Amino acid sequence: MEIAMNIIDNKIDTILVIDDEKDIRTAIKDYLELRGYRVITAKDAIEATKLLDREVFSLIISDICLQGMSGLDLLHLIKEKEIDIPLILMTGYGDMEKVMDAFKNGAYDFITKPFDMNEMFISVKNAVDKQRLKWENIQYRLHLEEMVKKRTTQLKIAYKNLEDMFLGTVRIVINTLEASDRYTKGHSERVRQYSIKLAKKLGLTSQEIRNLEIGSILHDIGKIGIDKTILHKNGPLNNDEYAIIKTHPSVGKHILEPIEFDEKIINIIYQHHERYDGQGYPSGLKRDDIFFLARLVTVVDAFDAMMSTRPYRNQLLAEKAIIEIDKNLGTQFDPEIGKNFIKLFNTDHSTMDILKHYNKDGKF
Ligand SMILES: [Fe+2]
Repeated sequence: MEIAMNIIDNKIDTILVIDDEKDIRTAIKDYLELRGYRVITAKDAIEATKLLDREVFSLIISDICLQGMSGLDLLHLIKEKEIDIPLILMTGYGDMEKVMDAFKNGAYDFITKPFDMNEMFISVKNAVDKQRLKWENIQYRLHLEEMVKKRTTQLKIAYKNLEDMFLGTVRIVINTLEASDRYTKGHSERVRQYSIKLAKKLGLTSQEIRNLEIGSILHDIGKIGIDKTILHKNGPLNNDEYAIIKTHPSVGKHILEPIEFDEKIINIIYQHHERYDGQGYPSGLKRDDIFFLARLVTVVDAFDAMMSTRPYRNQLLAEKAIIEIDKNLGTQFDPEIGKNFIKLFNTDHSTMDILKHYNKDGKF
């Protein structure tokens, strides 16, 4: 690839002429240089291979009968090294068998000695022009690939910026929603932070984490549609009120339908109150039938909810909330996700930092 670039950058094509007879080398060199080519000569294939290692040639013209390594050997070597340079062989009469062999091995053309320089020039010009066209095609393809790559990166960045802007707006909406209730202030943001930590611990992909980030922030968006007197009620909820609260996953799904979100994000919102044992709502889904990221948010959501004090429920210490999660593994929570969350809580002190911050500022 690099070679292609170099050749195209060079305006003058360089030709390597190999012949053990100095007069022939010089005659070809003089003739071709007069016609605008740069010509380098070598007396044998050994010298030629050294030149091939350090120069880029558009064409090789070589005598078929050289001392030591023959022109045919050189052709084999070029093929072996995958050097993409056309080779014209100069042959004597009676070398037809060698010529056939040379063609089989990829020789571009042959000229029979003694030859007319003008005839040789036709072959040389064709070979060099063809080679240049080949390099230009490669360069064009590379340029195209580079352009596509560049544009794809630009599009990805633009999409990510758009998504970030959207996420920023969503966070404002959620913060506004939660700010009106001192018991849930900052809840979705904390669920987002814990969920991402847990997702990283579980080795989820960046796309899954992105979906989780949006889904966890939006998981309670449906509460927008719930009567505020029920949502902020001081005291336990009666059955009817609880039934209304339980509609928030469906309301959330309904609110987001016009945005045409990824179905995975919708599933997080719609299924975050399902239970592993099938006793949850709204659909009573069980085990693996519940979307994995929704099962993850269920654990984190419940943990943060236990940490916040409702007027009718005392705030649990983080350790007690963890014991509750442990007790409900396999019933309310996916056991594997729950265990990993507990492990994260016990080993990652920054999780505790989020809690400290929350307790200090929230004063719930
Ligand atoms: Fe919820």
